[in-house]
Amino acid sequence: MARRASRFVCQACGAVTTRWAGRCEACGEWNTITEEAATEDIMTAATGKTSRTKGRRLALTSLDEPIPEAPRIVTGISEFDRVTGGGLVPGSAILIGGDPGIGKSTLLLQTAAALANRGARVVYVTGEEATAQVQLRARRLGADRSSVGLAAETSVETIIETLQGGPPPALVVIDSIQTLHTSIAEASPGTVTQVRASAQALIRYAKLSGAAVILVGHVTKDGQIAGPRVVEHMVDAVLTFEGDPSHAFRLLRGSKNRFGPTDEVGVFEMTGGGLSEVQNPSELFLGERDISSPGAAVFAGMEGTRPLLVEIQALVAPSRLGTPRRAVIGWDGSRLSMVLAVLEARCGLALSTHDIYLAVAGGLRIAEPAADLAVAAALISSRAGVALPADVVYFGEISLSGRVRAVPHANGRLKEASKLGFRGAIVPPLAGADADGCATSEVALLGDLVHRIAPDG
Ligand code: TYD
Ligand code: MG
Repeated sequence: MARRASRFVCQACGAVTTRWAGRCEACGEWNTITEEAATEDIMTAATGKTSRTKGRRLALTSLDEPIPEAPRIVTGISEFDRVTGGGLVPGSAILIGGDPGIGKSTLLLQTAAALANRGARVVYVTGEEATAQVQLRARRLGADRSSVGLAAETSVETIIETLQGGPPPALVVIDSIQTLHTSIAEASPGTVTQVRASAQALIRYAKLSGAAVILVGHVTKDGQIAGPRVVEHMVDAVLTFEGDPSHAFRLLRGSKNRFGPTDEVGVFEMTGGGLSEVQNPSELFLGERDISSPGAAVFAGMEGTRPLLVEIQALVAPSRLGTPRRAVIGWDGSRLSMVLAVLEARCGLALSTHDIYLAVAGGLRIAEPAADLAVAAALISSRAGVALPADVVYFGEISLSGRVRAVPHANGRLKEASKLGFRGAIVPPLAGADADGCATSEVALLGDLVHRIAPDG
């Protein structure tokens, strides 16, 4: 018989200790440790088996043996299929995180309906809303005629019992994992122990039945998927759905994928009738350009393996403050400081008495260092009051010495620029040949770019 005792679990990282403490030693968070009744071994309780069985002898496989191609369940939402690596893998578990209200439930309901329309059995379990709410949303999405099985339930045992009551579904959506509870664990719903035990039971269901299970996970203030990080380790793929709530576009990104690449990005636009797929994101992001004003530069960026053109806007204005303002949206603040320092120190551009605002248009977040050159171009253009040519794109990384460094995927960026009608590209040395119709012009030093944009200083 398992010995019953209390244990103390950090609600931020899932670390278990035997004593209460104000601060978790594992993750350093304060006031996150709560007492939970220890269930000796959740695994054992769930399977009813003890782990003391004798092991089997395995036949070892060589590395060059032919691999059976993992079958895929294509959902029909191609941006979703792209991120999962060509469709859902039967028996796999996917965790989807994202801010509240960003559109996770909408995306999954549309995906569920699309798959059901292809004749697959799909079950959608909501623990957050009433069935009527989901039905209303389905009506709004034009998905109410598809044969998705819907249930509002939070008990894991009931959910699994229901799923086992018919032929195994191809896809089960659980919205969300934080609302579930299982009698295996005694903690209250939403705690680390409950989330972990519920996820474990559903993942085991997926493996045994061959159904793909998608778990929705909430995101905390600092962007982590709430609950234990262990759930991220337990599932086969972790996707995040992100975007700026005040803009319409949404990105679906993979951060872990056991069956495919993690660098693919799905692009959607939130409309009155749900999410629509965006096949050519650059057109969306360049849609509302103001080409005649100084301070705007088009960055030829990459999202995953897909080129994405986006406008970078800068405003440089004399400051009346002792410490001038620096504000940046959609880019890294410390990277902006670095570009400003290089412009001052290496190119003699006086900026320390100016307020500087930088924004990536459309609410996109850029993480690539390749955006340095476009940011610099926008800053120089605004500082000099000279508009940049409207049909030129920029990409390249800037080093502290003021050199412009090569970045990956130069050809893909140039091709995309040429496809969208851009006639020129300012690029690092040796970035590659001209793509048809888009002439490259190399800059080796940031100072050269300053002279080109503002020849009279
Ligand atoms: P939802 O899918 O409920 O977000 P999540 O599950 O991530 O919390 O989406 C909620 C938002 O999406 C809500 O603000 C309204 C908006 N929305 C639309 O703009 N169009 C639509 O067709 C739907 C269904 C929702
Ligand atoms: Mg939701």
